[in-house]
Amino acid sequence: MLIFITCLVAALVVLLTTKKRYRWIYILYKTLPRDFKALFRFTLFNIRIWKWENNNMTAAKVFASLVKKHPNKIAFHFEDDTLSFKELDEYSNRVANYFLKCGLKPGQTVALLLENCPEYVGIWFGLSKIGVVTALINTNQTLDPLVHSIKASESVALIYGSNRSAVVSDVLPKLESLKLFQFVEEQKTSAPGTDLKEELKKSSTDYLKIMDKFGPKDKLLYIFTSGTTGLPKAAVITNIRFMMMSAALNFMTQLKEDDILYDALPLYHSAGGMVGVGQCLLSGVTVVIRKKFSASNFWKDCAKYNCTAAQYIGELCRYLLATPETEPIKHNVRIMMGNGLKGQIWNKFVKRFGVKKIYEFYGATEGNSNLINIDSTVGAVGFVPRYAGAIYPVTLIKCDMITGEPIRNKYGRCTVCKIGEPGVFIGKINPKKAVNQFSGYADKTATKKKVLENVFKTGDLYFNSGDILVQDELGYFYFKDRTGDTFRWKGENVATSEVEAVISNVVDLSDATVYGVEIPGTDGKAGMAAIVDSNKTLDINVLARGLKASLPMYSLPIFLRVMQSVPLTGTFKLKKFELQKDGFNINVIEDDVYFYDAKQGSYVPLTKDIYENLISGKVRV
Ligand SMILES: *[C@@H]1O[C@H](CO)[C@@H](O)[C@H](O)[C@H]1NC(C)=O
Ligand SMILES: *[C@@H]1O[C@H](CO)[C@@H](O)[C@H](O)[C@H]1NC(C)=O
Ligand SMILES: *[C@@H]1O[C@H](CO)[C@@H](O)[C@H](O)[C@H]1NC(C)=O
Ligand SMILES: *[C@@H]1O[C@H](CO)[C@@H](O)[C@H](O)[C@H]1NC(C)=O
Ligand SMILES: *[C@@H]1O[C@H](CO)[C@@H](O)[C@H](O)[C@H]1NC(C)=O
Repeated sequence: MLIFITCLVAALVVLLTTKKRYRWIYILYKTLPRDFKALFRFTLFNIRIWKWENNNMTAAKVFASLVKKHPNKIAFHFEDDTLSFKELDEYSNRVANYFLKCGLKPGQTVALLLENCPEYVGIWFGLSKIGVVTALINTNQTLDPLVHSIKASESVALIYGSNRSAVVSDVLPKLESLKLFQFVEEQKTSAPGTDLKEELKKSSTDYLKIMDKFGPKDKLLYIFTSGTTGLPKAAVITNIRFMMMSAALNFMTQLKEDDILYDALPLYHSAGGMVGVGQCLLSGVTVVIRKKFSASNFWKDCAKYNCTAAQYIGELCRYLLATPETEPIKHNVRIMMGNGLKGQIWNKFVKRFGVKKIYEFYGATEGNSNLINIDSTVGAVGFVPRYAGAIYPVTLIKCDMITGEPIRNKYGRCTVCKIGEPGVFIGKINPKKAVNQFSGYADKTATKKKVLENVFKTGDLYFNSGDILVQDELGYFYFKDRTGDTFRWKGENVATSEVEAVISNVVDLSDATVYGVEIPGTDGKAGMAAIVDSNKTLDINVLARGLKASLPMYSLPIFLRVMQSVPLTGTFKLKKFELQKDGFNINVIEDDVYFYDAKQGSYVPLTKDIYENLISGKVRV
């Protein structure tokens, strides 16, 4: 209530003191209903978080109260199976009791490499009951990137699905003294590791008293994010961060306990594994989990499970739109929430599939600055009223449009962007308030790099998202670009340094640089590698084989540019941006350019034909 009044007073002060009075009246008239609604929900959300923090709650403790309330309600649907709240609780107790007996200690980390299934949640949730942190590993990883993830999280044990046995066997020589557990999916393989399913059958479902010892600030998960520069980083997800992220979505979208949420996203990402799963664990919503997203089954599933809400990422919406327009499938999905639905296809999507409300949100897994669009304004990722900076301190500052580096004035301070002027999105860090806190990464130096100091005054701290956004006069934010050494492709983050490292491992070349290029009609950026081959010794087929063995498909460069010499101009970084500007436009590039033909599984010369077809969308990647 206090916030509410502050806000109103602030608005009035602005109104009465500004010269552009009439413009402000217009803006307030347009936005006040929206702002009241948001403020109301935001206040309820803050009360909830405040209560949770004060009562020393953890995800496990909140869940325990839900189990008591409705033990037999369905927590997860998965294929033709269901798991009730009580069953999920018992399963996670088995996990907790078993690993306690194995000698795992609070604060230690276990890596989890498993495809989507209800047990996935049961395992990490069970571990959290004994204070053990789980590192959620991207199931597409192999070789060095996989080793990096396991090492970066300082895991003492690895739980892997038997479907990943071959991948795990490949990296074991590089991971000594790791305790191994195999979770049997199809059948047990000969790869080393205790049979976890068998052990859990024997384990006790007893309640764990130790659970009460943990509080909101204790670590719950590590989720890997790109973190703008360098290799993927393990973002620290504390209990309160998890509770905040999923409660925020719950309050803002007003999901009710009788809603059923369809979650076909990977459970190792924050969207599917934290925001989605959190609706079940913390708010008592039934969640449908799917092994893997399937465009042709999406609406059929929603109908089958009576879903009323569903999660998306931009690519998913595009794939759904690309399915043949047959007889529409009757479904009850009224809410969709996610991020990356582009303005260009928004209306088409809403119209074709009859979804009433789209809640587009923006947020970094590790960040403290999240936004949500609660009134389905086309293309916007959220809004903050221009007068509400004191309540929700996020802003855009002037930056170099290519590098995303903030521009500082002669006093060393940053400048807030004007309306309509793109800038890098930052959020004030206030360690005292959970909402404004930045928990950082497992790696402390990486954490420091994401924090900006002395932004507006001496000693202030801001989280730097590295994303370029723009804000309109009504306060809506629109996403423009992601800067730094990472880009998104197929809903995954690609760290360019990781791809560069693999290239130089595969072929011994003097220089290679990787960057993202835009292909019209796709989301994110496609990977492109410029490789210097002055002696003309590069064997494209050898390179292709090596890349495919070490990189997940989404990280595989779609284009290769083979150069005779290193471009002479500028610094290494500058060079990258010039290359990026050329893209794969063979009309301006004189070097050989190759295109990864997914059907053939190899690189082919990029011809004028292929180029035109890519631009027009005839060839799809
Ligand atoms: C919360 O936990 C801390 C230690 O983790 C303890 O000192 C404090 O008394 C607890 N508070 C409540 C309300 O249980
Ligand atoms: C990730 O791996 C799974 C198989 O585990 C595969 O089906 C999926 O397409 C891959 N995702 C991407 C984005 O490459
Ligand atoms: C394991 O992999 C096989 C083949 O890749 C797939 O058909 C099956 O669904 C997977 N099983 C599980 C439980 O993930
Ligand atoms: C969906 O709703 C129908 C009708 O209300 C019901 O018969 C069916 O069992 C429900 N399906 C699921 C998976 O709950
Ligand atoms: C190219 O050949 C020259 C002479 O054989 C050699 O010194 C140089 O290292 C080679 N460069 C690369 C990139 O292999």
